[in-house]
Amino acid sequence: MSDNRQRSRSGEKLSSPDEAIPRATASAGPTRSGWRVSLPVAAAALAVSCIAIYISKQAPLKDGPYALCSREGKNIYTVDQENSRVQCIVVDGAYVVDSGSLHEVTVRWHDTAARAATPSTHAKLPVRFIPPGGIVIPGFTDAHAHILEYGAAQELALEGSKTIQDAVALVRSFILANPVVQNDSSKFVTGGGWDHTVWAGKWPTAADLDSDPIIRGRPVVLQSKDCHALWVSSKALELMGDLPPEVDGGIIVRDSAGNPTGLMLDNAQELVKQPPLTDEDLERRFSMTVAAAHKYGVTAIHDAGLDPVSLRFFKSRAAKGRLPIRVYAMNLFDETREYWGDKMDKILGDGDGTLTARSVKIFADGALRTGGSALYEPYEDNPSTPGFMRIAPETLFDIIPRFLKDGWQTCVHAIGDRANGIVLDAFEAALEGANVTALRPRLEHAQMMAPVDMTRLGKLGVIASVQPTHAISDMWYAQDRLGPERVKRLYAFRSLVDHGARLALGTDAPVEDINPMTTFYASVTRLSPAGDSPHGAEGWFPEQRLSRVEALRGMTIDAAYASFSEKSLGSLERGKLADFVVLNQDIMSVNANELLATNVLATVVEGQAVYGAL
Ligand SMILES: *[C@@H]1O[C@H](CO)[C@@H](O)[C@H](O)[C@H]1NC(C)=O
Ligand SMILES: *[C@@H]1O[C@H](CO)[C@@H](O)[C@H](O)[C@H]1NC(C)=O
Ligand SMILES: [Zn+2]
Repeated sequence: MSDNRQRSRSGEKLSSPDEAIPRATASAGPTRSGWRVSLPVAAAALAVSCIAIYISKQAPLKDGPYALCSREGKNIYTVDQENSRVQCIVVDGAYVVDSGSLHEVTVRWHDTAARAATPSTHAKLPVRFIPPGGIVIPGFTDAHAHILEYGAAQELALEGSKTIQDAVALVRSFILANPVVQNDSSKFVTGGGWDHTVWAGKWPTAADLDSDPIIRGRPVVLQSKDCHALWVSSKALELMGDLPPEVDGGIIVRDSAGNPTGLMLDNAQELVKQPPLTDEDLERRFSMTVAAAHKYGVTAIHDAGLDPVSLRFFKSRAAKGRLPIRVYAMNLFDETREYWGDKMDKILGDGDGTLTARSVKIFADGALRTGGSALYEPYEDNPSTPGFMRIAPETLFDIIPRFLKDGWQTCVHAIGDRANGIVLDAFEAALEGANVTALRPRLEHAQMMAPVDMTRLGKLGVIASVQPTHAISDMWYAQDRLGPERVKRLYAFRSLVDHGARLALGTDAPVEDINPMTTFYASVTRLSPAGDSPHGAEGWFPEQRLSRVEALRGMTIDAAYASFSEKSLGSLERGKLADFVVLNQDIMSVNANELLATNVLATVVEGQAVYGAL
């Protein structure tokens, strides 16, 4: 993750990507919007290779009402206002209809059955017991992830490649394992998740791909882990045709002779031509994400940025039937398109739908890792720049009140302390005299905040949508970037809570793993999965740890609040939807170093197991 520094001083001419980034930035100017959204979407490429369409395991459980109980006492965490625990919940159809001890719910059930004359309530209430040691909690919500991009990254996942050669070998095996691709060398091979920072900072090239005889001659497009770069083969370069000499807000990496090396950064990614995505591609990606999410107990995902193609897919998919997971979509704001807040229809979902789209996602700045987040003061390791805004503050002051007035929840990506401050200025102006509970504006990431802005965040009632896993990924290099004092403003979750902020927790998958237990573990330990940190075994800035209850609420009821669905989701209370998870151990009490070994025994959506069994 380190070393922009060395490269930025290398003096090479646009041949070294990290040296090139500051140049492009400088030419774009600090408040220019030349750096448009370059999302994983840019890489949402066609992989025609997969033969199987993944069908999510919708094991129908249409056998009437049941009580779900623990033999060991109150092992169901309801996450209600008082964080009550109960022995049983009663599920009827899609809803939780009662909770309490086995005796209480049985007596009440038969009382109700005696009054009501419907056949289902006359039956004896079947009781299912969770296994010993297990617990039940509300289904996890991932409050910030990228659904189709995660699916795309899974098709040919390059995470964990220790060398460029390892990554090339994975591409080769993928081709050999997919006869349709193997037989047709014109098929695009797409994948993602590579990370040059673990390759000693060495960037990959087209030549690396072409060196393999199986890969040579095929169009290959591989997205980086942080979604800021595409690594392509010579064939893919050739299909791009004539390239412009330069790209606003992006870099075509070139060798000393001026030839493209096969690496496209930021906006240059858009030059990569790929066949349009078919419904089958999108469905396959969606199914991959759904399968992974269900496996980890996730029942709802807030998608932090749908482009028009993805939105159309989700709409048509939802029109065909309920989605297997709740999708809460933020529609991307694109400065180059006309303002749409007063024209586009919202999909309200009314809290219990499977598709809701009533939010807009706006980008204020870039990312810390690449030095693109907007700071008040220059970077410690690059004093020539304080980063940059991706959008002019005037534009934020213009569109934020318009979107809010037109009824769109407004979610703004802000990483650096300056970006967060400017967005809060805009929120503050827009919220004057307004009812924040009705609007629920969100800061996506709220990653680094000046103390005065933390105070404002709490006062204004703006939701902080944070990703604790980023903290344990970035803790190794953050202080180099920010210095020993400013780094304390970063991922300061405890301070945010103490200033009155409501946190909604997410993963930012595919940037991080989609497993919510990693989020939970990172929140409560601030340790790497191996159990260490730059500050030792107590965790990185241990005073910023969240309690387990806070973490659980941030992944359930508070995430539901952040999506206007706290009346129907996020806790196991009478009248709410029966979306819940059965875990094999008590994550509220096991040793912290055992948290990551937690297994999901069943994931249940609307009373029916979609993963595992009850
Ligand atoms: C690939 O080509 C081989 C040899 O021509 C053929 O036997 C096989 O059926 C083909 N497979 C597919 C999936 O087209
Ligand atoms: C603010 O909005 C919420 C949610 O729409 C509503 O319940 C509440 O009554 C409103 N408060 C005021 C003061 O209007
Ligand atoms: Zn994101």
